Amino acid sequence: MEKIILLAKENIKNAYTPYSKFQVSAVLELKNGKFYKGVNVENAAYGLSNCAERSAIFAAYSDGVKKEDIKKIVIYTDHDYFVSPCGSCRQVMRELMEEDAEVLLINNKDEVKTFKNIDLLPFGFTKEDL
Ligand code: THU
Repeated sequence: MEKIILLAKENIKNAYTPYSKFQVSAVLELKNGKFYKGVNVENAAYGLSNCAERSAIFAAYSDGVKKEDIKKIVIYTDHDYFVSPCGSCRQVMRELMEEDAEVLLINNKDEVKTFKNIDLLPFGFTKEDL
């Protein structure tokens, strides 16, 4: 199995989900082979909760990563169905990852669904619109 998938599975234990109990793990892979991990981190003020995808992307950017460095993101949940990124994460991925970066959804049956970033937010709002 690809290393990025193993990392996503291993790291899901770090999800902080006392409210939803719904754990999500995301891992970014850079073109240079480096990885950045993220999990969903919830809060008693529910609206402040952060999704796994954004945690991983923000961790990478905090370390100086730029959109052109990112090859793919894997999103893993321990369910037998696929979990798809929410609208907020799609907006963030649209701006902070390249249009042709890969987005892989993985379920606990090791099934994989692959998308191109651009296809997850067609006709999206971007900084070019400002
Ligand atoms: N969540 C993610 O982390 N990523 C997704 O793609 C969907 C939803 C989180 C947010 C919240 O902590 C929990 O899952 C339930 O909505």
